[in-house]
Amino acid sequence: MPRTLLKQALSSTKPQDYVLIQGWVRTRRDAKSFSFLEINDGTSLKNLQVVIDSDVPDYENVVKATTGASVEINGRLVASEGKGQDWELHADSLKVIGESDVDYPLQKKGHTMEFMREQAHLRPRSNLFGSVFRVRSRVAYAIHSFFQERDFFYVHTPIITASDCEGAGEMFRVSTLDPGKAPLIDGDVDYSKDFFGRPSYLTVSGQLEGEVFATALSNIYTFGPTFRAENSNTSRHANEFWMIEPEIAFCDLDGNMDLAESFVKYLVNDTLENCPEEIAFFSKFVDKGLLERLKFILDRPFVRVSYMDAILLLQESKQTFDYPVEYGLNLQSEHERYLTENHFQNPVTVFGYPREIKPFYMRINDDGKTVAAMDVLVPGIGEIVGGSQREERLDLLDANFDRHNISKEDYWWYRDLRRYGSVPHSGFGLGFERMLMLLTGVSNIRDVTPFARTPGNVEF
Ligand code: 4AD
Ligand code: MG
Repeated sequence: MPRTLLKQALSSTKPQDYVLIQGWVRTRRDAKSFSFLEINDGTSLKNLQVVIDSDVPDYENVVKATTGASVEINGRLVASEGKGQDWELHADSLKVIGESDVDYPLQKKGHTMEFMREQAHLRPRSNLFGSVFRVRSRVAYAIHSFFQERDFFYVHTPIITASDCEGAGEMFRVSTLDPGKAPLIDGDVDYSKDFFGRPSYLTVSGQLEGEVFATALSNIYTFGPTFRAENSNTSRHANEFWMIEPEIAFCDLDGNMDLAESFVKYLVNDTLENCPEEIAFFSKFVDKGLLERLKFILDRPFVRVSYMDAILLLQESKQTFDYPVEYGLNLQSEHERYLTENHFQNPVTVFGYPREIKPFYMRINDDGKTVAAMDVLVPGIGEIVGGSQREERLDLLDANFDRHNISKEDYWWYRDLRRYGSVPHSGFGLGFERMLMLLTGVSNIRDVTPFARTPGNVEF
Protein backbone atom coordinates (compact mmCIF):
# COMPACT_ATOMS: atom_id res chain seq x y z
CA MET A 1 0.00 0.00 0.00
CA PRO A 2 1.43 3.43 -0.84
CA ARG A 3 2.27 5.71 2.04
CA THR A 4 -0.06 8.60 2.81
CA LEU A 5 1.75 11.69 4.06
CA LEU A 6 0.22 13.42 7.04
CA LYS A 7 -0.31 16.55 5.03
CA GLN A 8 -2.51 14.57 2.63
CA ALA A 9 -4.35 12.64 5.34
CA LEU A 10 -5.17 15.80 7.31
CA SER A 11 -6.56 17.57 4.27
CA SER A 12 -8.60 14.59 3.07
CA THR A 13 -12.08 15.41 1.81
CA LYS A 14 -13.58 12.05 2.69
CA PRO A 15 -13.10 9.12 5.06
CA GLN A 16 -10.70 6.44 3.79
CA ASP A 17 -10.67 2.76 4.62
CA TYR A 18 -7.07 1.85 3.92
CA VAL A 19 -4.39 4.32 4.90
CA LEU A 20 -0.71 3.68 5.62
CA ILE A 21 0.94 6.26 7.86
CA GLN A 22 4.64 6.36 8.72
CA GLY A 23 6.12 8.84 11.15
CA TRP A 24 7.44 9.53 14.62
CA VAL A 25 5.53 9.40 17.89
CA ARG A 26 5.10 12.77 19.52
CA THR A 27 3.07 11.59 22.53
CA ARG A 28 1.12 8.61 23.73
CA ARG A 29 -1.70 8.37 26.23
CA ASP A 30 -3.01 5.04 27.40
CA ALA A 31 -6.57 4.48 28.56
CA LYS A 32 -8.10 1.27 29.80
CA SER A 33 -9.14 -0.30 26.51
CA PHE A 34 -7.25 1.82 23.96
CA SER A 35 -4.32 4.19 23.43
CA PHE A 36 -4.00 7.58 21.71
CA LEU A 37 -0.88 8.25 19.68
CA GLU A 38 0.03 11.64 18.25
CA ILE A 39 2.06 11.03 15.09
CA ASN A 40 4.01 13.48 13.00
CA ASP A 41 5.97 12.88 9.80
CA GLY A 42 7.23 16.43 9.27
CA THR A 43 4.98 17.21 6.32
CA SER A 44 2.59 19.20 8.45
CA LEU A 45 2.62 21.24 11.62
CA LYS A 46 -0.43 19.36 12.89
CA ASN A 47 -0.12 15.85 14.26
CA LEU A 48 -2.40 13.01 13.30
CA GLN A 49 -4.23 11.44 16.21
CA VAL A 50 -4.26 7.67 16.10
CA VAL A 51 -6.60 5.55 18.18
CA ILE A 52 -5.59 1.95 18.73
CA ASP A 53 -7.97 -0.39 20.54
CA SER A 54 -6.63 -3.02 22.88
CA ASP A 55 -8.27 -5.76 20.81
CA VAL A 56 -6.13 -4.90 17.74
CA PRO A 57 -3.69 -7.85 17.41
CA ASP A 58 -0.65 -5.53 17.44
CA TYR A 59 -1.73 -3.76 20.62
CA GLU A 60 1.20 -5.31 22.51
CA ASN A 61 3.52 -3.10 20.39
CA VAL A 62 2.06 0.05 21.91
CA VAL A 63 4.42 0.02 24.89
CA LYS A 64 7.35 0.42 22.52
CA ALA A 65 5.73 3.38 20.76
CA THR A 66 7.28 5.96 23.05
CA THR A 67 8.01 9.60 22.22
CA GLY A 68 10.55 9.75 19.39
CA ALA A 69 10.00 6.19 18.13
CA SER A 70 9.28 5.65 14.44
CA VAL A 71 6.11 3.75 13.60
CA GLU A 72 4.04 2.44 10.75
CA ILE A 73 0.29 2.26 11.08
CA ASN A 74 -2.42 0.90 8.84
CA GLY A 75 -5.89 2.05 9.55
CA ARG A 76 -9.08 3.88 8.69
CA LEU A 77 -9.25 7.63 8.39
CA VAL A 78 -12.49 8.74 10.05
CA ALA A 79 -14.05 12.03 11.05
CA SER A 80 -12.81 12.94 14.50
CA GLU A 81 -15.19 13.54 17.33
CA GLY A 82 -12.48 15.25 19.31
CA LYS A 83 -11.73 18.95 19.19
CA GLY A 84 -8.88 20.44 17.16
CA GLN A 85 -8.81 18.02 14.25
CA ASP A 86 -11.07 16.96 11.40
CA TRP A 87 -9.66 13.47 10.94
CA GLU A 88 -8.20 10.74 13.08
CA LEU A 89 -6.87 7.31 12.29
CA HIS A 90 -8.31 4.13 13.76
CA ALA A 91 -5.47 1.66 13.69
CA ASP A 92 -5.77 -1.89 12.36
CA SER A 93 -2.07 -2.57 12.81
CA LEU A 94 0.92 -0.92 14.47
CA LYS A 95 4.56 -1.64 13.82
CA VAL A 96 7.36 0.05 15.74
CA ILE A 97 10.14 0.53 13.18
CA GLY A 98 12.75 2.12 15.43
CA GLU A 99 12.43 2.36 19.17
CA SER A 100 13.51 5.52 20.96
CA ASP A 101 15.87 5.45 23.94
CA VAL A 102 14.40 6.85 27.13
CA ASP A 103 16.79 9.81 27.10
CA TYR A 104 15.32 11.22 23.85
CA PRO A 105 16.19 14.93 24.26
CA LEU A 106 12.90 16.28 22.87
CA GLN A 107 10.67 14.41 25.35
CA LYS A 108 9.48 17.62 26.87
CA LYS A 109 8.41 20.89 25.31
CA GLY A 110 9.70 24.32 26.20
CA HIS A 111 13.43 23.88 25.68
CA THR A 112 15.52 27.02 25.20
CA MET A 113 16.71 27.97 21.73
CA GLU A 114 20.29 27.46 22.96
CA PHE A 115 19.51 23.89 23.99
CA MET A 116 17.89 23.25 20.63
CA ARG A 117 21.02 24.51 18.82
CA GLU A 118 22.99 21.85 20.65
CA GLN A 119 20.47 19.35 19.30
CA ALA A 120 20.72 20.55 15.70
CA HIS A 121 20.40 16.93 14.53
CA LEU A 122 17.03 16.47 16.27
CA ARG A 123 15.50 19.94 16.32
CA PRO A 124 13.85 19.67 12.87
CA ARG A 125 11.46 17.22 14.59
CA SER A 126 10.06 19.97 16.78
CA ASN A 127 7.06 22.11 15.84
CA LEU A 128 9.09 25.30 15.67
CA PHE A 129 12.03 24.04 13.61
CA GLY A 130 9.87 21.82 11.43
CA SER A 131 7.91 24.97 10.57
CA VAL A 132 11.03 27.07 9.98
CA PHE A 133 12.50 24.57 7.58
CA ARG A 134 9.25 23.97 5.71
CA VAL A 135 9.04 27.72 5.19
CA ARG A 136 12.69 27.81 4.14
CA SER A 137 11.98 25.25 1.44
CA ARG A 138 8.91 27.09 0.20
CA VAL A 139 10.70 30.45 0.08
CA ALA A 140 13.54 28.91 -1.96
CA TYR A 141 10.91 27.76 -4.44
CA ALA A 142 9.25 31.19 -4.49
CA ILE A 143 12.61 32.82 -5.23
CA HIS A 144 12.93 30.78 -8.39
CA SER A 145 9.29 31.47 -9.32
CA PHE A 146 9.74 35.21 -8.94
CA PHE A 147 12.70 35.34 -11.30
CA GLN A 148 11.59 32.68 -13.74
CA GLU A 149 8.23 34.44 -14.17
CA ARG A 150 10.19 37.57 -15.11
CA ASP A 151 12.54 35.94 -17.64
CA PHE A 152 15.61 35.92 -15.42
CA PHE A 153 18.03 33.04 -16.00
CA TYR A 154 19.49 31.10 -13.08
CA VAL A 155 23.29 31.14 -13.20
CA HIS A 156 25.51 28.93 -11.06
CA THR A 157 28.44 31.10 -10.11
CA PRO A 158 31.54 29.42 -8.67
CA ILE A 159 32.04 28.73 -4.99
CA ILE A 160 35.82 28.71 -5.29
CA THR A 161 37.19 32.00 -6.59
CA ALA A 162 40.33 34.14 -6.75
CA SER A 163 38.55 37.51 -6.40
CA ASP A 164 37.38 39.35 -3.31
CA CYS A 165 34.17 40.92 -4.59
CA GLU A 166 33.40 42.99 -1.51
CA GLY A 167 37.04 43.92 -1.00
CA ALA A 168 36.74 43.43 2.74
CA GLY A 169 39.36 40.69 2.92
CA GLU A 170 37.01 38.42 4.86
CA MET A 171 37.63 35.29 2.85
CA PHE A 172 38.24 31.67 3.76
CA ARG A 173 41.26 30.34 1.95
CA VAL A 174 40.95 27.20 -0.18
CA SER A 175 44.26 25.36 -0.23
CA THR A 176 45.69 21.88 -0.43
CA LEU A 177 49.05 22.95 0.96
CA ASP A 178 50.09 21.32 4.21
CA PRO A 179 50.35 24.29 6.62
CA GLY A 180 53.48 22.85 8.24
CA LYS A 181 55.25 22.08 4.98
CA ALA A 182 54.09 24.85 2.63
CA PRO A 183 56.69 25.92 0.04
CA LEU A 184 58.04 29.37 0.79
CA ILE A 185 59.22 32.23 -1.35
CA ASP A 186 60.98 35.14 0.36
CA GLY A 187 59.61 33.90 3.68
CA ASP A 188 55.97 33.85 2.50
CA VAL A 189 53.90 30.89 1.39
CA ASP A 190 54.37 30.31 -2.32
CA TYR A 191 50.79 29.96 -3.54
CA SER A 192 51.93 29.47 -7.10
CA LYS A 193 52.64 25.92 -5.91
CA ASP A 194 49.11 25.57 -4.49
CA PHE A 195 46.32 23.58 -6.15
CA PHE A 196 45.04 26.37 -8.41
CA GLY A 197 48.43 28.00 -8.91
CA ARG A 198 47.37 31.16 -7.07
CA PRO A 199 45.63 32.16 -3.85
CA SER A 200 42.01 31.02 -3.91
CA TYR A 201 39.09 31.39 -1.57
CA LEU A 202 35.45 30.56 -0.89
CA THR A 203 33.33 33.22 -2.56
CA VAL A 204 31.75 36.11 -0.61
CA SER A 205 29.39 36.89 -3.51
CA GLY A 206 28.51 35.67 -6.99
CA GLN A 207 28.08 39.20 -8.28
CA LEU A 208 31.16 39.62 -10.48
CA GLU A 209 30.43 36.42 -12.37
CA GLY A 210 26.75 37.41 -12.37
CA GLU A 211 27.73 40.57 -14.25
CA VAL A 212 29.38 38.41 -16.90
CA PHE A 213 26.12 36.59 -17.52
CA ALA A 214 23.87 39.66 -17.28
CA THR A 215 25.91 41.28 -20.04
CA ALA A 216 25.09 38.25 -22.18
CA LEU A 217 21.64 36.97 -21.13
CA SER A 218 20.25 40.36 -19.96
CA ASN A 219 18.55 39.28 -16.72
CA ILE A 220 20.09 36.69 -14.45
CA TYR A 221 20.09 35.64 -10.81
CA THR A 222 22.29 33.51 -8.62
CA PHE A 223 21.11 31.68 -5.52
CA GLY A 224 23.78 29.86 -3.62
CA PRO A 225 25.99 29.68 -0.56
CA THR A 226 28.43 32.46 0.24
CA PHE A 227 31.11 32.57 2.91
CA ARG A 228 32.49 35.33 5.06
CA ALA A 229 35.32 34.93 7.51
CA GLU A 230 34.12 37.82 9.66
CA ASN A 231 34.40 37.31 13.37
CA SER A 232 31.09 38.94 14.22
CA ASN A 233 29.09 37.05 16.76
CA THR A 234 25.74 38.74 16.23
CA SER A 235 22.24 37.38 15.76
CA ARG A 236 22.30 38.46 12.08
CA HIS A 237 25.70 37.23 10.88
CA ALA A 238 26.69 33.75 9.81
CA ASN A 239 29.94 32.65 8.20
CA GLU A 240 28.07 30.55 5.66
CA PHE A 241 24.82 31.92 4.33
CA TRP A 242 22.81 31.84 1.14
CA MET A 243 22.40 34.85 -1.05
CA ILE A 244 20.14 35.66 -3.98
CA GLU A 245 21.81 38.02 -6.42
CA PRO A 246 19.95 39.27 -9.48
CA GLU A 247 21.88 41.25 -12.08
CA ILE A 248 20.08 43.27 -14.72
CA ALA A 249 21.53 44.73 -17.91
CA PHE A 250 20.25 48.13 -19.10
CA CYS A 251 19.03 48.97 -15.60
CA ASP A 252 19.81 51.91 -13.30
CA LEU A 253 19.56 52.30 -9.53
CA ASP A 254 15.86 53.22 -9.61
CA GLY A 255 15.00 50.05 -11.51
CA ASN A 256 17.15 48.12 -9.06
CA MET A 257 15.36 49.55 -6.01
CA ASP A 258 11.99 48.79 -7.64
CA LEU A 259 13.00 45.18 -8.25
CA ALA A 260 14.29 44.69 -4.70
CA GLU A 261 11.06 46.04 -3.27
CA SER A 262 8.81 43.88 -5.42
CA PHE A 263 10.99 40.85 -4.69
CA VAL A 264 10.73 41.24 -0.91
CA LYS A 265 6.97 41.79 -1.19
CA TYR A 266 6.53 38.80 -3.47
CA LEU A 267 8.25 36.54 -0.93
CA VAL A 268 6.12 37.90 1.91
CA ASN A 269 2.94 37.37 -0.08
CA ASP A 270 3.92 33.89 -1.22
CA THR A 271 4.68 32.81 2.35
CA LEU A 272 1.40 34.19 3.68
CA GLU A 273 -0.46 32.32 0.95
CA ASN A 274 1.38 29.02 1.10
CA CYS A 275 2.46 28.64 4.72
CA PRO A 276 -0.55 29.94 6.67
CA GLU A 277 -0.31 27.34 9.45
CA GLU A 278 3.36 28.05 10.05
CA ILE A 279 2.83 31.81 10.05
CA ALA A 280 -0.04 31.40 12.51
CA PHE A 281 2.22 29.27 14.70
CA PHE A 282 5.07 31.83 14.63
CA SER A 283 2.61 34.63 15.39
CA LYS A 284 1.41 32.75 18.45
CA PHE A 285 4.66 31.41 19.87
CA VAL A 286 7.57 33.39 18.41
CA ASP A 287 6.53 36.94 17.63
CA LYS A 288 3.05 38.22 18.37
CA GLY A 289 3.37 41.11 15.93
CA LEU A 290 4.47 38.98 13.00
CA LEU A 291 1.31 38.68 10.94
CA GLU A 292 0.48 42.34 11.27
CA ARG A 293 4.01 43.33 10.30
CA LEU A 294 4.04 41.13 7.22
CA LYS A 295 0.73 42.57 6.04
CA PHE A 296 2.04 46.05 6.71
CA ILE A 297 5.10 45.34 4.52
CA LEU A 298 2.81 44.25 1.69
CA ASP A 299 0.47 47.20 1.93
CA ARG A 300 2.85 50.15 1.78
CA PRO A 301 5.65 51.34 -0.48
CA PHE A 302 9.08 51.27 1.12
CA VAL A 303 10.35 54.69 2.14
CA ARG A 304 13.32 55.90 0.06
CA VAL A 305 15.81 58.19 1.72
CA SER A 306 19.30 59.28 0.73
CA TYR A 307 22.24 58.39 2.94
CA MET A 308 22.79 62.13 3.53
CA ASP A 309 19.22 62.63 4.74
CA ALA A 310 19.45 59.49 6.85
CA ILE A 311 22.54 60.89 8.57
CA LEU A 312 20.75 64.18 9.25
CA LEU A 313 17.69 62.36 10.61
CA LEU A 314 19.83 60.28 12.93
CA GLN A 315 21.75 63.32 14.14
CA GLU A 316 18.53 65.17 14.84
CA SER A 317 16.93 62.17 16.55
CA LYS A 318 18.39 62.96 19.99
CA GLN A 319 18.96 59.25 20.45
CA THR A 320 22.06 57.95 22.15
CA PHE A 321 23.77 55.44 19.92
CA ASP A 322 26.81 53.32 20.72
CA TYR A 323 28.43 54.22 17.39
CA PRO A 324 28.94 57.75 16.06
CA VAL A 325 26.69 59.14 13.32
CA GLU A 326 28.69 61.16 10.85
CA TYR A 327 28.81 61.64 7.10
CA GLY A 328 31.37 59.17 5.73
CA LEU A 329 30.80 56.48 8.37
CA ASN A 330 28.88 53.27 7.86
CA LEU A 331 25.39 53.00 9.26
CA GLN A 332 25.49 50.50 12.10
CA SER A 333 22.69 48.09 12.85
CA GLU A 334 21.41 50.31 15.68
CA HIS A 335 21.12 53.24 13.22
CA GLU A 336 19.42 51.11 10.59
CA ARG A 337 16.96 49.79 13.10
CA TYR A 338 16.20 53.24 14.44
CA LEU A 339 15.35 54.40 10.93
CA THR A 340 13.10 51.50 10.06
CA GLU A 341 11.59 50.72 13.49
CA ASN A 342 11.27 54.12 15.09
CA HIS A 343 11.54 56.95 12.64
CA PHE A 344 9.75 55.64 9.55
CA GLN A 345 8.11 52.55 11.04
CA ASN A 346 8.31 51.09 7.58
CA PRO A 347 10.88 49.28 5.43
CA VAL A 348 13.38 51.86 4.18
CA THR A 349 15.64 51.93 1.14
CA VAL A 350 18.72 54.09 1.78
CA PHE A 351 20.61 55.15 -1.35
CA GLY A 352 23.61 57.26 -2.37
CA TYR A 353 26.38 56.26 0.03
CA PRO A 354 29.80 57.97 0.18
CA ARG A 355 32.15 56.19 -2.18
CA GLU A 356 34.80 55.76 0.53
CA ILE A 357 32.78 53.17 2.41
CA LYS A 358 31.72 51.09 -0.60
CA PRO A 359 33.44 48.52 -2.87
CA PHE A 360 35.24 49.26 -6.14
CA TYR A 361 32.46 48.16 -8.50
CA MET A 362 29.84 50.77 -7.58
CA ARG A 363 28.99 53.53 -10.04
CA ILE A 364 30.13 56.99 -9.06
CA ASN A 365 27.38 59.64 -9.07
CA ASP A 366 27.72 62.98 -10.86
CA ASP A 367 28.56 64.68 -7.55
CA GLY A 368 31.86 62.78 -7.61
CA LYS A 369 31.39 61.90 -3.93
CA THR A 370 28.62 59.34 -3.66
CA VAL A 371 27.95 56.05 -5.40
CA ALA A 372 24.72 54.57 -6.78
CA ALA A 373 24.36 52.13 -3.90
CA MET A 374 21.26 51.11 -1.99
CA ASP A 375 20.41 49.06 1.09
CA VAL A 376 16.94 47.88 2.09
CA LEU A 377 16.37 48.01 5.85
CA VAL A 378 13.55 46.19 7.63
CA PRO A 379 12.25 46.21 11.21
CA GLY A 380 13.81 43.74 13.60
CA ILE A 381 16.82 43.09 11.40
CA GLY A 382 18.21 46.17 9.67
CA GLU A 383 19.93 45.55 6.33
CA ILE A 384 18.37 42.73 4.35
CA VAL A 385 19.36 43.81 0.81
CA GLY A 386 22.56 45.47 -0.41
CA GLY A 387 22.98 46.49 -4.04
CA SER A 388 24.10 49.08 -6.54
CA GLN A 389 24.37 50.25 -10.09
CA ARG A 390 27.76 49.07 -11.36
CA GLU A 391 30.47 51.28 -12.81
CA GLU A 392 30.17 50.55 -16.54
CA ARG A 393 32.70 53.22 -17.68
CA LEU A 394 36.17 51.73 -18.02
CA ASP A 395 38.15 54.86 -17.14
CA LEU A 396 36.18 55.40 -13.94
CA LEU A 397 36.36 51.71 -13.05
CA ASP A 398 40.14 51.80 -13.49
CA ALA A 399 40.34 54.82 -11.23
CA ASN A 400 38.43 52.80 -8.62
CA PHE A 401 40.83 49.88 -8.94
CA ASP A 402 43.71 52.27 -8.35
CA ARG A 403 42.06 53.91 -5.38
CA HIS A 404 41.36 50.52 -3.80
CA ASN A 405 44.85 49.23 -4.60
CA ILE A 406 43.43 46.40 -6.66
CA SER A 407 45.45 44.98 -9.52
CA LYS A 408 43.78 45.71 -12.87
CA GLU A 409 45.53 42.71 -14.39
CA ASP A 410 43.76 40.34 -12.02
CA TYR A 411 40.41 41.73 -13.15
CA TRP A 412 41.15 41.73 -16.90
CA TRP A 413 37.99 39.75 -17.63
CA TYR A 414 35.84 42.12 -15.54
CA ARG A 415 37.39 45.07 -17.40
CA ASP A 416 36.63 43.36 -20.71
CA LEU A 417 32.90 43.66 -19.97
CA ARG A 418 33.50 47.45 -20.13
CA ARG A 419 35.50 47.16 -23.37
CA TYR A 420 33.08 45.12 -25.44
CA GLY A 421 29.57 46.52 -25.49
CA SER A 422 29.40 47.93 -21.97
CA VAL A 423 25.93 48.76 -20.65
CA PRO A 424 24.54 50.35 -17.54
CA HIS A 425 23.64 47.49 -15.23
CA SER A 426 22.58 46.94 -11.66
CA GLY A 427 21.94 44.25 -9.12
CA PHE A 428 21.62 43.43 -5.47
CA GLY A 429 22.06 40.67 -2.91
CA LEU A 430 19.28 39.51 -0.60
CA GLY A 431 20.44 37.54 2.42
CA PHE A 432 18.28 34.40 2.37
CA GLU A 433 18.50 33.76 6.12
CA ARG A 434 17.77 37.40 6.97
CA MET A 435 14.67 37.16 4.75
CA LEU A 436 13.65 34.04 6.67
CA MET A 437 14.09 35.90 9.95
CA LEU A 438 11.74 38.57 8.64
CA LEU A 439 9.18 35.98 7.51
CA THR A 440 9.20 33.84 10.65
CA GLY A 441 9.93 36.37 13.39
CA VAL A 442 12.77 34.11 14.55
CA SER A 443 15.32 36.54 15.91
CA ASN A 444 18.58 34.62 15.53
CA ILE A 445 20.10 33.60 12.21
CA ARG A 446 21.31 30.36 13.83
CA ASP A 447 17.70 29.26 14.16
CA VAL A 448 16.71 29.64 10.51
CA THR A 449 19.84 27.82 9.27
CA PRO A 450 19.85 24.00 9.25
CA PHE A 451 23.45 23.79 10.48
CA ALA A 452 24.73 27.24 11.32
CA ARG A 453 28.36 28.16 10.78
CA THR A 454 29.44 30.82 13.25
CA PRO A 455 32.82 31.40 14.92
CA GLY A 456 33.76 28.23 16.79
CA ASN A 457 30.76 26.23 15.55
CA VAL A 458 31.17 23.44 13.06
CA GLU A 459 29.99 20.47 15.11
CA PHE A 460 27.23 19.13 12.89
O1 4AD B 1 25.63 43.92 1.28
P1 4AD B 1 26.36 42.71 0.82
O2 4AD B 1 27.72 42.46 1.36
O3 4AD B 1 26.37 42.82 -0.77
C1 4AD B 1 27.04 42.01 -1.64
O4 4AD B 1 27.63 40.99 -1.36
C2 4AD B 1 26.85 42.41 -3.08
N1 4AD B 1 27.90 41.78 -3.87
C3 4AD B 1 25.46 42.02 -3.53
C4 4AD B 1 25.17 42.41 -4.94
O5 4AD B 1 25.08 43.58 -5.23
N2 4AD B 1 25.03 41.44 -5.82
O6 4AD B 1 25.48 41.42 1.12
C5 4AD B 1 24.16 41.31 0.62
C6 4AD B 1 23.23 40.80 1.70
C7 4AD B 1 23.11 41.70 2.92
O7 4AD B 1 22.21 42.75 2.71
C8 4AD B 1 22.63 40.72 3.96
O8 4AD B 1 21.22 40.50 3.83
C9 4AD B 1 23.34 39.44 3.56
O9 4AD B 1 23.69 39.56 2.21
N3 4AD B 1 24.54 39.23 4.38
C10 4AD B 1 24.63 38.34 5.37
N4 4AD B 1 23.74 37.47 5.87
C11 4AD B 1 24.13 36.69 6.88
N5 4AD B 1 25.36 36.70 7.42
C12 4AD B 1 26.30 37.56 6.95
N6 4AD B 1 27.52 37.55 7.47
C13 4AD B 1 25.95 38.43 5.88
N7 4AD B 1 26.61 39.37 5.17
C14 4AD B 1 25.73 39.83 4.26
MG1 MG C 1 25.84 45.41 2.66
